[in-house]
Amino acid sequence: MSLPKDFLWGGATAAHQFEGGYLEDGKGLCSGDVVTSGDGRNGIQRRVTYTLPDGEYGSQFVFPYQDLPQDTKLSCHEDEFYPTHEASDFYHHYKEDIALMAEMGFKCYRMSINWARILPHGDDEIPNEKGLEFYDRVFDECLKYHIEPVVTLLHFETPVSLINRYGAWIDRRCVDAFVKYCEFVMKRYQHKVKYWMTFNEINNMEILPLYAGGLLKNDDQSKATATYHQFIASAKVVKMAHEINPEMKVGMMIAYTAAYALTCHPRDELKLMKDNQIRHFYCDVQCRGHYPQYKLKEYQRNGIHLPVLEGDQQILKEGTVDYIGLSYYSSSCVSGDEKQETTSGNMTTSIINPYLKTSEWGWLVDPVGLRIALNQLYERYELPLFIVENGLGAIDHMENGQIHDTYRIEYLKEHIYEMKKAIEEDGVDLMGYTPWGCIDVISAGTGEMRKRYGFVYVDKDDSGNGTMKRYKKDSFYWYQKVIQSNGEEI
Ligand code: BG6
Repeated sequence: MSLPKDFLWGGATAAHQFEGGYLEDGKGLCSGDVVTSGDGRNGIQRRVTYTLPDGEYGSQFVFPYQDLPQDTKLSCHEDEFYPTHEASDFYHHYKEDIALMAEMGFKCYRMSINWARILPHGDDEIPNEKGLEFYDRVFDECLKYHIEPVVTLLHFETPVSLINRYGAWIDRRCVDAFVKYCEFVMKRYQHKVKYWMTFNEINNMEILPLYAGGLLKNDDQSKATATYHQFIASAKVVKMAHEINPEMKVGMMIAYTAAYALTCHPRDELKLMKDNQIRHFYCDVQCRGHYPQYKLKEYQRNGIHLPVLEGDQQILKEGTVDYIGLSYYSSSCVSGDEKQETTSGNMTTSIINPYLKTSEWGWLVDPVGLRIALNQLYERYELPLFIVENGLGAIDHMENGQIHDTYRIEYLKEHIYEMKKAIEEDGVDLMGYTPWGCIDVISAGTGEMRKRYGFVYVDKDDSGNGTMKRYKKDSFYWYQKVIQSNGEEI
């Protein structure tokens, strides 16, 4: 058996990590623009910068996150380095970059629209035509090569103006602003873009509330409120998209991991059950259209109140998603015993799994976990799945213009092997596979450039120096063959 003929092979990026041009042609600031670079090998140390009411400037780690001082306004500061401002400069290299994607044979390209490029303040009455034209050019360029754009509507890019004026997703006005923004872009691009996703890694609200929801606070009530608003917004957008053009498909997107109990001790199994509930909650609401009992009980116990308005239940019910997009980088291991040694993962930590090796950044490498993850999600929701992120962040060395990234090929090969098993042996309905950072992007977790995922090397270092020239890595040619053979040759 082989993969479906229309399987969407491609690659993925996000606007703030790839585009640059951060204030060009009328774009406003987004949350990703006010986060500095960090040195992430020994922990995540990116900082968000702000101005206090007396004009003093301050900054604070985004992970672990604490409430920012009262009346803080997020802002950039001239003494700081913000890697997103230039990123990989796709804004000026999009033609060359899309040509490289086409050369690899991409069938699709997952990217995000930067909300603040369309509505600089997040809720402007009239969209920024120059911003709209940029994405028109990008989509046209993709379609020229028969590359299907797959668009994330919000990938850690909440407009700063919405954050500073009313705390972004904590406020219901953000729902209206988001829906309006989506209406603008969906109407405009309905004949160019078929596949959409509402919120990137919506479950990052748990640990990275600034990224996921533009929150200046990290308490449970604020996060529950912001999540609730995102669910309502997502449901409204799904319904609206189907009305605008019934051909359009809208998915949710979750950071997923196969989780294991460290031992068969019931205490560890119970911990695993709870851990899975934390993740599944986001899918339960967006795929089933209502809150699960375990979450409602938890909120009740902890005195959390949801800002429910009349008609909301109906909104959630009518706006369930068409598919589930997931990022998968590693599995995780949990234990009821809190004294276990941990290692880092995608925006999270895990107990060390003695059977698995780790990446240079300490992330557990587990291809079989991908098969398990796909099966878990498909069994539970019976909706098409889409792997919209996967890959190995590693340091590449360029010699005479060549990059021999065998470690990356190895990682991807093993994951594709297990992905195929999930489809062919287990019957999982999988729409496609878009490895992360297909052309090098800056890291969301650490702001580094040297943590590279791409098939294409971008000549730039952690301090922003470099020619920006693009170089094809060995993995470029390997992935080209994978796509050409529709996954037969890996
Ligand atoms: C996901 C995000 O969390 O993982 C991406 O959706 C991110 O934005 C990716 O870049 C990899 O994480 P990192 O920290 O290595 O960039």
